[in-house]
Amino acid sequence: MQKRHFLSLLDCSPTELGQIIERGIALKADPISDRFKGKVMAMIFDKSSTRTRISFEAGMAQLGGSALFLSSRDTQLGRGEPIEDSARVISSMVDIIMVRTFGHDAIEKFAQYSSVPVINALTDSYHPCQLLADIMTYVEKRGSIAGKTVAWVGDGNNMCNSYINAARQFDFNLRIACPDNFKPLEDIVSKNSDRVWLGENPQEAVSGADLVVTDVWTSMGQEEEKQKRLQAFAGFEVNHELMTHAASNAAFMHCLPAYRGLEVSGELIEDPAISLVWDEAENRLHAQKALMEFLLG
Ligand code: CP
Ligand code: NVA
Repeated sequence: MQKRHFLSLLDCSPTELGQIIERGIALKADPISDRFKGKVMAMIFDKSSTRTRISFEAGMAQLGGSALFLSSRDTQLGRGEPIEDSARVISSMVDIIMVRTFGHDAIEKFAQYSSVPVINALTDSYHPCQLLADIMTYVEKRGSIAGKTVAWVGDGNNMCNSYINAARQFDFNLRIACPDNFKPLEDIVSKNSDRVWLGENPQEAVSGADLVVTDVWTSMGQEEEKQKRLQAFAGFEVNHELMTHAASNAAFMHCLPAYRGLEVSGELIEDPAISLVWDEAENRLHAQKALMEFLLG
């Protein structure tokens, strides 16, 4: 089989993505096997992580393989060894690689030189693995997301960009509210203008939505902008009041880590009738095992 990468949701067809979601649900019910016996995953982290590291590492172990945690603090990549050299060397020794880094161009270059599949475990532009878990969670808890309305409230960041790709691939409508100057990538918004509405008013975005999603206001790498962002995002908290504008039975999701009292209220994130965040986090494990199976053939 030809080598496949997963750098964004657009690297798979809608049918393939649907199969990965279904397989994730099946693996959740039957988690242990030796399908990946002898397989090794390299996990390159230029940024911090809790969920991503644990889900990939545990997932490999549950399927009989193993995973290497490679922090940029400890590898030569972190000391400036060229990406193209590192990619060729690392991929000559392992079966699959996941990368969490800053610029999306870095992972694209890495994938270009890698002889094995590369998974985007978050860049400044996209976080496609999180979307597999989010869609799997919606399907499990509420049924098919096709034809539904999803609201994104907050920063037009890597998660928001991935929701735009998801709207296209999973066939839903997306209503985005971001403050001015914090909008998602312009070219993907315009390419998907038939299904993406972009505004600045959270209530307008949430109106009638079946799923409301947010994320941190200050992503990794933006720490110096924190104060400016706190001011710009005032009024963008997702809370029970905002959810009253959504459809009845609307769900709330957040990829985590979450900051209560900023982008989400403590009451909403802890409300089990609305908030799916714990299932969403756990489903990283199941959905990524399905993704690895897909990529390893
Ligand atoms: N949601 C997510 O990717 O979490 P981590 O940063 O903890 O991996
Ligand atoms: N947008 C956040 C997601 C963290 C999982 C970040 O990039 O820091």
